[in-house]
Amino acid sequence: MAGFSSGEQTVIAAAISEIARNILMYAKQGEVFLSLATNGDRQGVVVVAKDQGPGIADLERAMQYGYSTSHGVGAGLPGAKRLMDEFEVDTVVGQGTTITMKKWRRVI
Ligand SMILES: Nc1ncnc2c1ncn2[C@@H]1O[C@H](COP(=O)(O)OP(=O)(O)O)[C@@H](O)[C@H]1O
Ligand SMILES: [Mg+2]
Repeated sequence: MAGFSSGEQTVIAAAISEIARNILMYAKQGEVFLSLATNGDRQGVVVVAKDQGPGIADLERAMQYGYSTSHGVGAGLPGAKRLMDEFEVDTVVGQGTTITMKKWRRVI
C-alpha cells in the first residue's frame, strides 16, 4: 500500500481502527476518508475521520492516556496520535468531530 512496509501498514490500520471505533461509540455514525498525498520527497497516507456526533468537550483531557467518558481504556486518541506523524482534531460540542491524521514515508 503506497510503498509502506507491512509493519507500517499495521500501524496505520491500528490508528484508523481506534478512530473508527470512537465514531461508532460516541457519534454512532460517520465517515473515514482515505487518500494519498505527496509532500516534497515524502509520500503519505491521509486519513480524515468525520462525524456529526456530540463533539469532545475537553479535548486536552481527551488527548491524555487514561481519560475516558465511557469507562474505556482511554488510549484511542493518544495512541493514534503516537502511531501517526500528524494528528489534528477539529471538534465542536453539539456539532461533531473531524480528525485528520497523516503518515509519511520518504521516497528515495
Ligand atoms: N468521535 C468522537 N466523538 C465524541 N467524543 C469522542 C470521540 N472520540 C473520542 N471522544 C472522547 O474522547 C475520549 C477519549 O477517547 P479515547 O482516547 O479513544 O478513549 P476511550 O474511547 O477508551 O474512552 C472518549 O472517552 C470520548 O469522551
Ligand atoms: Mg476510543
